[in-house]
Amino acid sequence: MKGIVLAGGLGTRLFPLTKITNKHLLPMYNKPMIYYPIQTLVDAGIREIMIVTGGNNAGDFLKLLANGSEFGLKHLDFTYQAHEGGIAEAVGLCEYFAEGKKVVIILGDNIIEKNIKKAVKRFKRQEEGAMIFLKKVKNPSEYGVAEVKDGKVINIVEKPKKPKSNLAVVGIYMYDNRVFDIVKTLKPSRRGELEITDVNNIYIEEGTMKYERLLGGWADAGESIDAYNDAINFVRKRYANKL
Ligand code: DAU
Repeated sequence: MKGIVLAGGLGTRLFPLTKITNKHLLPMYNKPMIYYPIQTLVDAGIREIMIVTGGNNAGDFLKLLANGSEFGLKHLDFTYQAHEGGIAEAVGLCEYFAEGKKVVIILGDNIIEKNIKKAVKRFKRQEEGAMIFLKKVKNPSEYGVAEVKDGKVINIVEKPKKPKSNLAVVGIYMYDNRVFDIVKTLKPSRRGELEITDVNNIYIEEGTMKYERLLGGWADAGESIDAYNDAINFVRKRYANKL
């Protein structure tokens, strides 16, 4: 299984912090933000990782992360997203890297507390389809929101005004290799992006989407300036001595 960290986009919700650098290079207490999602993949046993970035600061990622030896890796792959065409567009750039294998994708601004190794193992055994993580939140309208019935996700709505549940879709997605064909069928949403929620709804319609509740804490550091600062405190409290 291969790993992908998505670190493109403009990070406009954190302006002006992101005016001269990429959101994922901003400090998260003791380390640049992107260290945390990379560590999540490494802790899950993933050794082959692609970083997707974009914008004006792409070169800084190479300078910062080099060949990944700080994470115990032998190599890191990088690619460049020329336009901010959405999360699913960024995923589409990794088809060549995936070499027909399953992928675990993490958003570069998502920081989690617990190891997802066991879930990754379960997905390795899953014959086909996808797996996502859900987490109860107080502000579901800021996320993809899942509706669950009889133990199955029946629908996900991206940032709904009137959410049907308080179950947010965490920014960690596991897909079989068909995800790259699915991405090619997507049309841009009203905000002009290829939406990961559309990818997930295709797997849901197909009946091959599984989900797990994410255990432990979760922070989406890119949602707002307050969320960014909350994420720093989260890292300070829970991670400072672990990484
Ligand atoms: O954090 C979880 C949420 O992430 C999910 O609940 C939502 O369903 C999902 O759409 C996403 O929502 P966000 O509004 O938080 O996505 P955002 O635009 O902040 O992008 C998240 C990461 O994806 C960002 O840190 C970098 C990467 N990205 C994003 C875009 C739009 C790219 O690599 N390229 C892009 O074009």
